[in-house]
Amino acid sequence: MTGQSTALVVGASRGLGLALVEEWLGRGWRVIATARGRSDPLEKLATRFPSSLEVEVVDINDAGTVRALRERLGGRRVDVLFINAGIARDIEASPVGARETDFLDMMLTNAFSPVRAVEILRDLVPTGGTIAIMSSELGSIANATGSWQLYASSKAALNMLMKGYAAKHADDRHALLLVAPGWVRTEMGGSDAILSVEQSIPLVVDMVDANRGKAGLRYVDRFNNPLPW
Ligand SMILES: NC(=O)c1ccc[n+]([C@@H]2O[C@H](COP(=O)([O-])OP(=O)(O)OC[C@H]3O[C@@H](n4cnc5c(N)ncnc54)[C@H](OP(=O)(O)O)[C@@H]3O)[C@@H](O)[C@H]2O)c1
Repeated sequence: MTGQSTALVVGASRGLGLALVEEWLGRGWRVIATARGRSDPLEKLATRFPSSLEVEVVDINDAGTVRALRERLGGRRVDVLFINAGIARDIEASPVGARETDFLDMMLTNAFSPVRAVEILRDLVPTGGTIAIMSSELGSIANATGSWQLYASSKAALNMLMKGYAAKHADDRHALLLVAPGWVRTEMGGSDAILSVEQSIPLVVDMVDANRGKAGLRYVDRFNNPLPW
């Protein structure tokens, strides 16, 4: 790849998405970062990196905003498309105690919408480029412990939808990554999480880099170790 590489990070207002943006900017990349609305942390980053950071508005659950972004980016090359957006609701609950709408919201935001966004944005990524989605260690059915079971189910559904995507687009020469970043202290991860953002995200970016040019779907942790589906 020649020239400055570009990453498009969808869901970058705070937490891990914001950290991904900052990490790639620090490594000399151009970054297109999306938020649902105004994000003060992204605005601050844009003043530090005025010529390398572009901020766009996308709500991943609103396909129109994703399509509008695709239109605005017409003709651009995105080396890494990273869908990070996600939510966690009713983390202690089982189906008998949870609000049905919380489960449906997680299925929409964590599984359906990310893969729809990949379908809409995929042709911005050239052959040899990378499409990554933030999954979770909790998305592994083989390793399930019952922890955060409703959220975990939405990440397992994401993994399944990407299996389908990979089969449908078997001729694409993209690296397709379902990323497990570890349990990280963010608004979602909470203060008991074992990793700081700084202990996770640089390794995630190294791992994405290590997969450059390797076509096919992989479900991997931040050390690039494969996880059981
Ligand atoms: N933290 C962990 O331990 C951990 C572990 C495994 C996987 N993950 C995954 O990592 C990703 C980021 O998590 P985080 O810990 O950084 O969570 P977070 O601090 O709660 O941040 C979530 C991000 O997703 C965005 N988002 C939510 N719904 C969206 C929508 N409909 N459209 C666009 N953006 C949306 C949020 O934007 P707003 O500011 O607009 O709400 C925010 O930028 C998620 O996919 C999560 O499931 C996290």
